[in-house]
Amino acid sequence: MKLLITGASGLLGINLALETMRAHEVIGVDRGKLQSAPFPVRKANFFQRHIFDPALDATQPDWVINCAALANLEECEKHPGQARILNTELPRELASACAKRNIKFVHLSTDSVFDGTRAGAYTEEDEPNPPGVYSQTKLDGEHAVLEANPNAIIARVNFFGWSLGGRRSLGEFFVNNLSEGKNVNGFTDVIFCPMWVNHLGGLLVEMLEKDLHGLYHVVGAQAMSKYQFGIEVARKFGLRESLIAPESVERSALTARRSHNLWLSVHKLSTALGHEIPDFSTGLDGFCTQYQQGYPQRIRSYQQTDG
Ligand SMILES: NC(=O)c1ccc[n+]([C@@H]2O[C@H](COP(=O)([O-])OP(=O)(O)OC[C@H]3O[C@@H](n4cnc5c(N)ncnc54)[C@H](OP(=O)(O)O)[C@@H]3O)[C@@H](O)[C@H]2O)c1
Repeated sequence: MKLLITGASGLLGINLALETMRAHEVIGVDRGKLQSAPFPVRKANFFQRHIFDPALDATQPDWVINCAALANLEECEKHPGQARILNTELPRELASACAKRNIKFVHLSTDSVFDGTRAGAYTEEDEPNPPGVYSQTKLDGEHAVLEANPNAIIARVNFFGWSLGGRRSLGEFFVNNLSEGKNVNGFTDVIFCPMWVNHLGGLLVEMLEKDLHGLYHVVGAQAMSKYQFGIEVARKFGLRESLIAPESVERSALTARRSHNLWLSVHKLSTALGHEIPDFSTGLDGFCTQYQQGYPQRIRSYQQTDG
């Protein structure tokens, strides 16, 4: 299959492209960061409007996975207009352009559409209540995409892995800081379901192959606090877990509100796929093996450097 990946320089985009290119033809769309990626890259800035029709006509993909977004919560609070365009309006446009051409479309959403006030796991049936600009524009994006393209897949995700800039994921945050002997905080009151980005990439392709459509939670099967995640990373990488201080997110300097409970049920997804979702420890093993094999440096070498 021919797969077009937007946001190919992002944490998900780059890992998805590298994972998928073994079995499929991959074309990335990027606004200029990628330099020597081992797959073809088309340059496009999404703020130049009406770029999707020509891009789809020129590349003729079977599948499109939209990994482009304004995914930094603080930036979204500062620039709500940009967040709306990137997280709601452009996904609607791309979903519609794919529907017109019968191209299967996957759009990425977020676990943080929920306000986190309930005690147990959220299912796809539960009512979201976005706590900030990022999550509101992402929820509006879900609606916009499904309205424009009812056959689309919407995946609410949360993942960790190695990124182009080396600082995008929570996994990198703990490895980078603990390796340098720095003290960090780990939030004990934010529960989430982290998934290794390579597992996520594999599941998204499997969902396309199985011709699923509609809304799915595509997160790890194990819920844990961000503090516990840090401890697991430290142990796996042989780093000092005592450098991680248990802390409340309410005492952090982060300006955008965080939900306390982002435990999402993956029952709908595992039922549709007919197998269990890969477990957290296998994903953490994969993340660590990549580190030992120099994968982070390899990824960073694809980045455009000035001069
Ligand atoms: N990371 C997580 O755990 C997490 C959790 C929940 C949901 N998600 C969702 O998953 C998806 C992927 O997230 P991610 O962590 O991979 O995000 P990311 O690392 O921030 O990547 C975002 C991508 O969008 C691109 N982009 C931004 N503005 C653009 C523009 N004007 N024109 C073209 N491309 C533009 C970025 O390009 P540049 O590199 O040039 O900026 C980058 O490639 C997003 O929809 C996000 O909301 C992620």
